[in-house]
Amino acid sequence: MPARPASPPQCGFAQPVPSEREKAERPAIGQEENATATAMPSAAVADAAMPHVPVMLQAVVSLLQVRPGGVYVDGTFGAGGHARAILDTPDVRLVGIDRDPEAIARGRELAAALSPRLFLWQGRFSQMEEALSEAGVAPGSVDGVVLDLGVSSMQLDQGGRGFSFLHDGPLDMRMDGEGPSAADVVNTADEETLAAILRIYGEERRARAIARAIVRRREKAPITTTGELAAIVTGVLGPKRPGQAHPATRTFQALRIHVNRELEELAEGLAAAERVLKPGGRLVVVSFHSLEDRIVKRFFAQRSGRLVDPAPRHLPVVPAVTPTFRDIARGGLVPEAAEVAANPRARSARLRAGERTAAPAMALDPQLLGVPRLAGLGRLRKGGRKGGRR
Ligand SMILES: C[S@@+](CC[C@H](N)C(=O)[O-])C[C@H]1O[C@@H](n2cnc3c(N)ncnc32)[C@H](O)[C@@H]1O
Repeated sequence: MPARPASPPQCGFAQPVPSEREKAERPAIGQEENATATAMPSAAVADAAMPHVPVMLQAVVSLLQVRPGGVYVDGTFGAGGHARAILDTPDVRLVGIDRDPEAIARGRELAAALSPRLFLWQGRFSQMEEALSEAGVAPGSVDGVVLDLGVSSMQLDQGGRGFSFLHDGPLDMRMDGEGPSAADVVNTADEETLAAILRIYGEERRARAIARAIVRRREKAPITTTGELAAIVTGVLGPKRPGQAHPATRTFQALRIHVNRELEELAEGLAAAERVLKPGGRLVVVSFHSLEDRIVKRFFAQRSGRLVDPAPRHLPVVPAVTPTFRDIARGGLVPEAAEVAANPRARSARLRAGERTAAPAMALDPQLLGVPRLAGLGRLRKGGRKGGRR
């Protein structure tokens, strides 16, 4: 594979946090689904077989400080855009993880071409220690981890995956095909549970009315397609208005987050990254909505000693927090206007990053990180596979 010039040493290409007005103009949760990737990626990663444009590519590579001979983990391999850029540095080894078997299958050709530098592993990034062990990487010896959250353009664009109201297909939404599908959830969960999913994961104000409409509609026949669900939501909220997100955006995103346990996965993945990184190693995370970003933000705040548990369980002894990370992109970075213009999916992106200290990894407290607790919903999620596979 031809080498590409090294990335610039600092990230002048990314912007600091936007003003309140700019924030107000950001898309609501899940609104990025309306975006269509119209631009090609940078020339170096352009590839007709890679329809997903990597977001904040230069900032990711620069903040990772990719160095020759380093070992990196891409926990969200997708179409391999970030992975390729990391692998452009000579002698780098990369473990590419994705829970979607299709993403791993698509990466096989690249892995063969770069053998043995790219090791692909199908599974969840919360299980990255297992992937590293299979790749023969010693614990605590990783130089960098990147997580580029959410779904890829390929997943959204294939109607058969059932992620999008823009493409009619079976109501599925599972990234790895494991556990209950979105159709299972909308056809079996009680009204109160459905409303909680829509309100908490979709920040949907009309959650109760939509849940009621779903329950009424399924009494006649099961809801099996994305088109049927979108029509139910539109029946409650009214049709899409010009300049606004599709009314089903929040409902679809809520179900996707729930079906894939995305927020729990994120918290567990951050904690796994903390365990595998060596002192000086870097963790870079790109999130796409406020629920994800809050967890990443709180993780770095807690791990760098700026967020302390307000109600420690072991009073009166409050343990001193030894920072496990140094925040290296305090406040977060957002893409430049040019990137957003070229790739509307980048519009809601926010990047946060930290550098690992030598302190031992901390225990994970999902509630402290802001992972919402949906009491009684575990039943709907049973059946997830534990292990990953190559
Ligand atoms: C936004 S895409 C990543 C795109 C990739 N960075 C690129 O440049 O092509 C997100 C990918 O992460 C995967 N994914 C999401 N959550 C995951 C998890 N918990 N574990 C492993 N893969 C995950 C999805 O299947 C999807 O392929």
